[in-house]
Amino acid sequence: MTTQAMCLPSVFLNGKFMPLEDAHISPLDRGFIFGDGVYEVIPFYDGKALRLHEHLKRLQRSLDELEIDNPYSTDQWKAHIGALVEHNGGGNIAIYIQITRGVAKRDFAPIRGLKQTVFMMANPLPTPKRDVYERGISCVSLDDSRWLRCHIKSTALLGAVMLKHASNNEGADEALLFRDGYLTESSASNIAAIKNGVILCPPMDNLILPGITYELMIELARNAGLPLEVRRVSRHEVNTADELWILSSTKEVVPITTLDEKPVGHGAQAGKPGPLFWKMYELFQTYKRGL
Ligand code: PDD
Repeated sequence: MTTQAMCLPSVFLNGKFMPLEDAHISPLDRGFIFGDGVYEVIPFYDGKALRLHEHLKRLQRSLDELEIDNPYSTDQWKAHIGALVEHNGGGNIAIYIQITRGVAKRDFAPIRGLKQTVFMMANPLPTPKRDVYERGISCVSLDDSRWLRCHIKSTALLGAVMLKHASNNEGADEALLFRDGYLTESSASNIAAIKNGVILCPPMDNLILPGITYELMIELARNAGLPLEVRRVSRHEVNTADELWILSSTKEVVPITTLDEKPVGHGAQAGKPGPLFWKMYELFQTYKRGL
């Protein structure tokens, strides 16, 4: 694979912009050894960020949880991110930020005063074509076997990687995760279920990453007067839902049309994106046009 295909040409490492080929970190970086770091993925449309502030706030919360100092102020982050977007030609891109605790002799003990490693890259963010929305995606139900601190956007993602693998091995696009009989999320996205015209949103706790797209969807739904409840969603409610949506910064909002090889929804609507999905799709596209 060429480096061109891995990400857009210009990356950021520890305060400097450079081609990906020139970006090197120590194998003793705690991100490499322990997954001791946090990350963010921020979508840009036509070079304009979607909810940059919220992403930077969540980055701060993740750093606080790991007791890693934030190496930059909000203004510095905005300047570095803005420059990276520009170096990579603007347009529709996703900025990936990773901060690790830094480089040290391998030791589990939390080490204070290390110099954090900061890496950023840009990836193309292709807006899904209409037929992707019309088709929707397929999911399989799996037990949520990840750790109990999923609210931290940590780079230690082995649980999510294994679940994504398992879903792909079963021929599905994504995994729908359940813990103690209740819906949590997907391996790298949030989930909402629609039942009897009400959008059901699992509450954000330690078992779920508080998604920026999920928060935006709730805001758009409330502003448009769509019925919505933030509460736990049982497996039975998911299995009998009229619609299921998957949400993330790289997917936006996409309908899940197949769950465990069965069509989602009922009657003539079964296996197709539902009416509330199309309403939310319009609200989301309108919001993006206003960035
Ligand atoms: N994933 N839940 C999990 C576990 C996630 O990893 C993500 C994001 C989300 C959605 O969050 P947001 O709307 O802020 O993107 C929910 C990103 C895109 C990733 O890891 O690439």
